[in-house]
Amino acid sequence: MAKRIGILTGGGDCPGLNPAIRGCVYAAERLGYECVGFEDGWKGIIENKTTPLNREITRDIKMDGGTMLGTSRTNPYKREGGVEKLRETFQKNNLEALVAMGGEDTLGVAHRLYKDFKFPVVGVPKTMDNDLSGTDYTFGFDTSVTVAVDALARLRDTAKSHHRIIVLEVMGRHAGWVAMFTAIAGAADYVCLPERTVDVEDMAKKLKAAYAGKRFALLVTSEAVDLPSVGEGEKQALDDFGHVVLKGRAIGETLAKIIEDKTGLETRHAVIGHIQRGGSPTLYDRMLGTRVGVAAASFVAEKKFGVMAGLTGDKIVPVPLETAVGQLKTVSPEWFKLAEMMF
Ligand code: F6P
Repeated sequence: MAKRIGILTGGGDCPGLNPAIRGCVYAAERLGYECVGFEDGWKGIIENKTTPLNREITRDIKMDGGTMLGTSRTNPYKREGGVEKLRETFQKNNLEALVAMGGEDTLGVAHRLYKDFKFPVVGVPKTMDNDLSGTDYTFGFDTSVTVAVDALARLRDTAKSHHRIIVLEVMGRHAGWVAMFTAIAGAADYVCLPERTVDVEDMAKKLKAAYAGKRFALLVTSEAVDLPSVGEGEKQALDDFGHVVLKGRAIGETLAKIIEDKTGLETRHAVIGHIQRGGSPTLYDRMLGTRVGVAAASFVAEKKFGVMAGLTGDKIVPVPLETAVGQLKTVSPEWFKLAEMMF
C-alpha cells in the first residue's frame, strides 16, 4: 500500500493556497506518496471529511483564488474530544503525515499537536496579512496588496475629480503590512497601522498639507487601528482562537468623520474587505505557493516534522513551528523609518 499524506487548509483563505496544494500533491506523488484532502481545515479532520487529491484533480487549480479544500477557523483544542477524533481520523486513513497550510492559528495547532504527541505534521505558511514569523513573506500577501493598490488608484481618480479626501480601509487585524505596502506602493498621503496609536492631530495636519498642493488626499488604514473612541464598552465577539471578530467596527468610516471634523474637507471612505482575499494569485504568490507546497512534501519524505516551509532570502528551509508561532511578525522599526520618509 502506498504511503499517504493528508493535506488541509485552515484559517482565512488567500490566493496561493491552490498552487501550494498542487505543489504538495505533485511533489508527494513523485516521492511515492498518495494524498488525501481534508475539507474545511481542522473541522474536516475532526469529522473525517475527506476529498481525493491527485495530479489530475489539482492540475488546473493554480490560477484559482481561494482553496479547493475549503477552510474554517475551527480549533480542535476548543472542541470536545476534537484532538482525539483528529488522531483517530489520522489512523483510520493510514496517514504517515499531515501537511497543514495556514497562518498563526492553524500552525499554532500543528505546533501543539507536534509538542503534545510528536504528531507527524509539516506546516505551510500562508496569510495575506504577512504576519507570520520564520518566513520572509507569505503567499497571499502579494495578491492582496496588488488588489488594494489597484483600489487605491481608482479612489485617486475620483478623489481628484471631486477634490476630496478618501480613506481606504484594508485588512490586517494585528499587523499593518498590507496597509503600509498599499500606502507606499499606491502613493497615499498618510497611513494608519495597528502597531501605533493614530496621532489624530498629525494625521489632520499632513492630510491638509497634501490637499493644499493637489486638492485631494488619500489615506490607507488597517481595519483595526487604535482609536480611543472605537470599541470602548463594546461587547466583542471572539472566534475559536480568541481573536476579536471585527465585523462592524467601521474604522474607515470613523476616520473619515474625524478627518472631516478636523480639516473641514469633504471626506469619503471605502472598505475593500474580502475583495482582497479573492481572485487569481499573482505570479509571486503562484511561485511561492508552489515552492512551499513542494518543500512540505519533501520534508515529509525526509521525516522532518514539527517544521514549516519558510522562505529565507531565496531559499525554502525547514523552520521549527515554534519559531513561526512564537511571536507575530508586526511592522518593525526599520519599516517605520521608511514610512516616516514617505508620509
Ligand atoms: O486572517 C487574515 C484576515 O484576512 C485578517 O486580516 C482579517 O481580520 C480576517 O482575516 C477576517 O476574517 P474573516 O474572513 O473570518 O472575516
